Amino acid sequence: MQTTKTLGAIPTAARVHRFTYAIRNIVAEAQKVEATGKRVRYLNIGDPVAFGFHTPAHLVAAVERAMRDGHNNYGPSPGIPAAREAVASEYTANGFPVSADRVFITAGTSEGIELTLSAIVDDGGEVLVPMPTYPLYTAVIAKLNARAKYYRLDPNRNWLPDLDHLKNLVTPETRALVVIDPNNPTGAVYPTDMRRALLEFADEHGLVILADEVYGDLGFRGSVPPLGLLDPDAPIISFSSLSKAYLAPGWRTGWMAVGRTPRLDDVVAAVKKLADGRLCSTVPMQYAVAAALTGDRSHQTGFRRDLEARSDLTVSRLRAMPGVSVVEPTAAFYAMPRVALPPGRTDEQYVKALLHETGVLCVYGSGFGLPAEQGFLRIVFLAPLDELREIYDLMAGFTASYLQ
Ligand SMILES: Cc1ncc(COP(=O)(O)O)c(C=O)c1O
Repeated sequence: MQTTKTLGAIPTAARVHRFTYAIRNIVAEAQKVEATGKRVRYLNIGDPVAFGFHTPAHLVAAVERAMRDGHNNYGPSPGIPAAREAVASEYTANGFPVSADRVFITAGTSEGIELTLSAIVDDGGEVLVPMPTYPLYTAVIAKLNARAKYYRLDPNRNWLPDLDHLKNLVTPETRALVVIDPNNPTGAVYPTDMRRALLEFADEHGLVILADEVYGDLGFRGSVPPLGLLDPDAPIISFSSLSKAYLAPGWRTGWMAVGRTPRLDDVVAAVKKLADGRLCSTVPMQYAVAAALTGDRSHQTGFRRDLEARSDLTVSRLRAMPGVSVVEPTAAFYAMPRVALPPGRTDEQYVKALLHETGVLCVYGSGFGLPAEQGFLRIVFLAPLDELREIYDLMAGFTASYLQ
């Protein structure tokens, strides 16, 4: 008999090699740096709670109550009725009429995205995703053996989509258009004329729009309406969650809302079928959805103000660094600066050198699909202002010598 020692390693599936998620992958590198005794400042993950922002007490109370009241059973696979109704009312009040039976409560925006892509894209199907993108899209698309086609966001035009580029990417295999607005990783909010142009483009080519609106309540000037407001009959599926504007990312609770057009009826049925297979999302946390959407949201006013102050500091400090440029964010907690790298260097080399030298951890732009030589990186600016000042001092010193 062969012993464990003589047998080879258990093989892993090819899809794992196609699956990359730079935001967390880079943590392994940071842990090596930490092992040397150096302090690492993690600016890689957009988790406000990790930086001292608190989940509103009435949401914690709603979950606690649900557990005490015995709601620890499996729930209906699309979600508990109260949560679905609250989500439907929220979209409807914001001008995108959705009925509760077209809402699914999911394990964060992430699960909604995965369920939807699984429901609509076959092997070899193509999905238009922004470049830079939030990397979950390309990771899931790769897992499905489908193809991401990147459309450019233009840093010279406030990171708005390049419509001409988008138009050139459509083929008979194109299935969907991903629109992330407000955007991660750029912090951009799209003006109404751009939103209309995207809707027209999707309509012309018969595409469903996956509208990632997880930062919708985090525009510095106030909430950004859903894309569906501009055309409630367009085939739009909107995604959001409690993770960002409701400060509970660890609860893994979110939702997707499918527009009322009958063209999406089969998609609703397909998502329902797939959702049945994973039984349900976390039940006690679903009790926080109605509490969030129908209760007190005053925490958002202070949160938005704090984000804007951090953004202002980030922009002014980055722009003061020779060789560094940045588009000013108008929502969320990300900035995407560009470092004018010497020829032959990559964004990943710069980010890793910054990490090893200073302990500051950002994510390189190529992790979001950008060409590595362009020198972009993403900063999460959720840390307190004083800490951000220290971080930008470290970055300024390092970058000056790196670019010499
Ligand atoms: C654009 C975007 N979509 C989706 C997600 C996933 O969020 P959730 O916690 O709701 O799954 C994130 C998280 O950072 C994000 O930035």
